Amino acid sequence: MSQRRKIYEGKAKVLFEGPEPGTLVQYFKDDATAFNNVKKGTIAGKGVLNNRISEYLMMRLTEAGIPTHFIRRLNMREQLVREVEIVPVEVVVRNIAAGSICKRFNIEEGTPLPRSIVEYYYKNDELGDPLISEEHITAFGWATPPEIDDMLSMSLRINDFLSGLFLGIGLKLIDFKLEYGRLFDENEQVRLVLADEISPDGCRLWDVATNEKMDKDRFRRDLGGVEEAYQEVARRLGILPESEPQDVKGPTTIQ
Ligand code: TMP
Repeated sequence: MSQRRKIYEGKAKVLFEGPEPGTLVQYFKDDATAFNNVKKGTIAGKGVLNNRISEYLMMRLTEAGIPTHFIRRLNMREQLVREVEIVPVEVVVRNIAAGSICKRFNIEEGTPLPRSIVEYYYKNDELGDPLISEEHITAFGWATPPEIDDMLSMSLRINDFLSGLFLGIGLKLIDFKLEYGRLFDENEQVRLVLADEISPDGCRLWDVATNEKMDKDRFRRDLGGVEEAYQEVARRLGILPESEPQDVKGPTTIQ
């Protein structure tokens, strides 16, 4: 592995100390997990594709006025991001019923929801990321009421923007998960920015014409064609990496 100091290792990414204070290097692995780490595997080239896909989507969101932690992509598997304090709340936005909401309310997968539904989950692997309400978030101090307002309004703007972007390339944005971080500026002022990644690992994307799944559900449900689905999303976004993802094995040190 790299010489740089490892700050944190998650299931799909590693964070290293960045080249300047206040920055981190986010390294994308090929590792995949599902059902809170019960199912483990690798998806060849996933890290390369997610690095690219997340770069593209974060840049487009920045253009649309959404503040993010993203600074720039460094190489095939790494991007430079601002160091933030991650809010331990995962925000899920759903447009069409799929996954856990189907089980919870016995809804058939694919049912359009009456309106977009925003849910909060406590980011805690040991507990399996339980569903929580605003009451839990404020009572346990995970985020303040104004921060919840910011996360809600940004998530809905992101949903509108990304739903349109994906529709333009023949994909329906079924649902997705976002994470936010606190960014402290020189005067110790704090503001929330979009953090983590946006990729087919944390989104459900269905082909408009066929409803074919083009996301991590192919891995979760053993549907096959996982690598191809991620590649197809990248291809439709017009951002397939220069060389084959399989060519890239380990992390490379940045200058
Ligand atoms: P769910 O249907 O399993 O609750 O997932 C909703 C969306 O959130 C789906 O696109 C996958 C994403 N997600 C994550 O990225 N990480 C998680 O830990 C969970 C539970 C969901």
